Amino acid sequence: MNLPRRMRRLRLHEPLRRMLQSVSLRRGDIIVPVFVVEGENVRREVASMPGVHQMSVDVAVPWLAERANEGFGAYLAFGVIDRAKKDTEGSAALDENNVVCRLLRSVTAQKIHMAGITDLCFCEYTSHGHCGPLTADRSTVDNDRTVEQLVKQAINHARAGAAVVAPSGMMDGVVGALRKGLDSAGFTDLSILSYSVKYASAFYGPFRDAADSAPEFGDRRSYQMDPARGIDEAITEAKQDVEQGADMVMVKPAGAYLDVIRAVRGSIEVPLVAYQVSGEYAMIEAAARNGWIDRDRAILESLIAIKRAGADMIISYYAPVLARLLPN
Ligand code: PBG
Repeated sequence: MNLPRRMRRLRLHEPLRRMLQSVSLRRGDIIVPVFVVEGENVRREVASMPGVHQMSVDVAVPWLAERANEGFGAYLAFGVIDRAKKDTEGSAALDENNVVCRLLRSVTAQKIHMAGITDLCFCEYTSHGHCGPLTADRSTVDNDRTVEQLVKQAINHARAGAAVVAPSGMMDGVVGALRKGLDSAGFTDLSILSYSVKYASAFYGPFRDAADSAPEFGDRRSYQMDPARGIDEAITEAKQDVEQGADMVMVKPAGAYLDVIRAVRGSIEVPLVAYQVSGEYAMIEAAARNGWIDRDRAILESLIAIKRAGADMIISYYAPVLARLLPN
């Protein structure tokens, strides 16, 4: 058959195939999440996230030092506190000696060469598990009161040495308030990575085990986005955050939202971070453990797809595996 173009020609030679790759994945693209718990010498595997552990500060710090040596440049800290310390307002989030602040200080003291990003949210600190204090009728999170509290949480993390704060509660106006609050507290160089486009997703299930942050009643649909809503909402959220001062924006989850990553990428001019969330991790792990997929290949393919869609950086639980799979 005479075909002017045979697409397979360029696929025939392995070295050529390699040269034609235009999407790359480096360790430096990956942000490493870490769940910090109270106590000492604690290293507890999360049941729904095999291979991921909750760690006390003394265990998390050397673990992060290993990641730094492997070439990973940033970590994302989540505080997991004892139930007894939770209240309706999430006040433990503002304690300067909570696990997140202790981790930040310890990483700095040990001169670990990694930027500290902190998740700004109250779901890990409130007794009801919602992302901030509730309205008087307890029907939803009180947006404006939560924003005030988030600014205080950010300043608390900034004082402990955070390089970046990442508001994840989908509260309106949070980025502008954070910029203003951080600037007036003297933290003009602290960056904001906004979880701008965050869907109310079933894929966060395992995380809520890891962070002990499942809502006690209801769900998060009155503040997180509806997966069935059109792309306009995602673009407006991202643009609005950039206008308010976000240095980077995030789309979350990643794998089921590649179209959203692509669209947001095309409409903003700051770095875009995508979050390969706990459920995405758990699905790959479960299938691999059953022998149904090739784990290493599925991990790389899932992350390459997120890069191809337009993400500059990816938050992924796979850092330790990627240290084996990717060149530094
Ligand atoms: C909120 C937060 C969540 C995740 C990151 N930050 C959970 C939620 O919105 O309920 C989920 C991350 C994951 O699933 O890996 N603090």
